[in-house]
Amino acid sequence: MSDDSRPSPPAGPSATRTAAVIPAAGRGVRLGPGAPKALRALGGTPMLIHAVRAMAASRAVGTVVVVAPPDGAAEVRSLLDAHALPERTDFLVVPGGQTRQESVKLGLDALPPGHDIVLVHDAARPLVPVDTVDAVIEAVRDGAPAVVPALPLADTVKQVEPAGTPGEPEPVVATPERALLRAVQTPQGFDRNTLVRAHETVTGEVTDDAAMVEQLGLTVVAVPGHEEAFKVTRPLDLVLAEAVLARRRLNDGF
Ligand code: CTP
Ligand code: MG
Repeated sequence: MSDDSRPSPPAGPSATRTAAVIPAAGRGVRLGPGAPKALRALGGTPMLIHAVRAMAASRAVGTVVVVAPPDGAAEVRSLLDAHALPERTDFLVVPGGQTRQESVKLGLDALPPGHDIVLVHDAARPLVPVDTVDAVIEAVRDGAPAVVPALPLADTVKQVEPAGTPGEPEPVVATPERALLRAVQTPQGFDRNTLVRAHETVTGEVTDDAAMVEQLGLTVVAVPGHEEAFKVTRPLDLVLAEAVLARRRLNDGF
């Protein structure tokens, strides 16, 4: 597919093609019993469809790879067929793995050639605004090998000596300076070759993709994140997500 004929904001220094990998293979244990988290409804639509639309909303994104629950690829494929999605975007579905890291790797392996920039976006962050997506892409186009959207913290953070038993008091060992800390979101954006190399060489367990690029010794940069890019993790997050959707509908009505 060629996107030469369509405008592709944000304007970058070179014609690059961007793909998004959406890890959606998790169970959602912290959300409680039910369907895999990505397939649960938000405002009547599966969380995954919101996340797919959020990526496809960027005109720079030509391909979206959804990493489905290991036994749920067929179900995800029919969900994509059943919901309206932009014509200009290609969609692929692959089954995921046991960890997020494995799932992202499986998504990367399925990515067709011809994409210079890869976004990795949690299905569990269904409401990220397109401006945040475009800002991440723009920073990769400007030359950063890895880009994370990030927000300052509201809470003070303590480092503790974790208790062996949950609920037991834990000694506090340090208080990192809050002004130097950021809470990191997705989509994270990467030079494709850098991310592929990171997934091939870094073996330890990490909680985001940018950490693997840091382990390669490369610079990761943070751009402003957005409060609506929060991760749906616990039941209260569903309440917040429904409220954000309701506010958007109200605003769209005016
Ligand atoms: N994920 C994945 N494959 C896994 C585990 C997680 O693709 N084996 C995805 C999830 O579907 C989610 C994203 O990684 O979109 C972020 O993970 P998280 O919020 O932790 O989701 P879950 O792992 O599903 O939730 P929990 O940890 O509560 O079980
Ligand atoms: Mg998890």
